[in-house]
Amino acid sequence: MRAFEISEADGKLSCEVRDVELVQLTPSDVLVKVDFSGVNYKDALVASAPSRVRRIDKVIGGVDAAGTIVVSSIPDLRVGTRVAVHGGDLGVGRDGGFAEFVSAPAHFLSALPSTITTREAMIIGTAGFTAMASILALEAHGLDADAQVLVTGATGGVGSVAVTLLAARGYQPVASTGSPSESTWLHERGAVRVIGRDEISDKPERVLGTARWAAAIDCVGGDTLNQILRSLQYGGSVAASGLVASAELTTTVYPFITRAVNLLGIDAVEATASTRERVWTTLGEIAQNVDIAPLVDREIKMEQLPDAFESIRNGSTRGRILVDPSPG
Ligand SMILES: NC(=O)c1ccc[n+]([C@@H]2O[C@H](COP(=O)([O-])OP(=O)(O)OC[C@H]3O[C@@H](n4cnc5c(N)ncnc54)[C@H](OP(=O)(O)O)[C@@H]3O)[C@@H](O)[C@H]2O)c1
Repeated sequence: MRAFEISEADGKLSCEVRDVELVQLTPSDVLVKVDFSGVNYKDALVASAPSRVRRIDKVIGGVDAAGTIVVSSIPDLRVGTRVAVHGGDLGVGRDGGFAEFVSAPAHFLSALPSTITTREAMIIGTAGFTAMASILALEAHGLDADAQVLVTGATGGVGSVAVTLLAARGYQPVASTGSPSESTWLHERGAVRVIGRDEISDKPERVLGTARWAAAIDCVGGDTLNQILRSLQYGGSVAASGLVASAELTTTVYPFITRAVNLLGIDAVEATASTRERVWTTLGEIAQNVDIAPLVDREIKMEQLPDAFESIRNGSTRGRILVDPSPG
């Protein structure tokens, strides 16, 4: 089959589309014919040398994919079922979704709701799964029905899907972006207001900023996350999933002990079966009422993946990049 292979030898990185043999399935693995994969921030990290996240020297990239099961001995996952495949070490420590077929353990697979096509599943992808999981976590911590919710990295994968889903659920997303030229696009996705990255910081000379946000979805990390914590309203929550600015978090205990704020960690990689089910079911409900097609930045062939990684690295994507593994 054709696949996008990433290999590192003597510090030298090679990324190319190759004909590779399909790896023998273990009895518990399920084989999926891939319709689409998506490009995530993590994929760009895997295709770097040295890589902080890639666990082996040679791997087929792609942390997620969607398609149809062609071989399975799992009763709940029959041949012909349309699925999303993501999580665990897919595309990081075992062969992933940038290929015509992907083989994965059953717990990496989620059967898709009837309202979501395999293409739409990858418009959502791991980034959108993370956005939905973030919203569900905020709701579990008492998010008011029409709350204003700050979304950082708003034109990226997690951010743009978060803006779209928040608006679809009746919240008022405030989009923070370093791409002011995308302001109209973000309003069209449902943002009630668009602000610059630097507008999150408030009253730096004080211990706390103005209590502005009922809640926030942050995939940026670093000082952005610190500024959000300083500016949450009493009892507010931030769902933190990412580190595009920095993995370091320097903050104080004041937001926690004087405003009772909550820092909620979001992890899509090891999400439990019940979380996966809840997230995909809710996405299926929302998908009936929202057109997510405008979230596609572009659709590419595997040969164009290196350019896509470059766009992700320099933060110039708008929404999601889809990968069609069929020959060009
Ligand atoms: N916890 C999990 O399970 C999980 C799952 C998925 C993703 N993630 C993480 O979430 C993050 C985002 O992933 P993604 O796939 O959405 O990436 P992405 O599509 O590249 O989006 C990231 C966005 O962040 C903004 N940005 C880029 N560099 C920045 C910087 N230096 N400072 C501030 N903002 C910056 C840009 O948006 P603007 O131009 O609009 O500001 C960019 O589009 C990554 O760290 C990823 O590893 C975690």
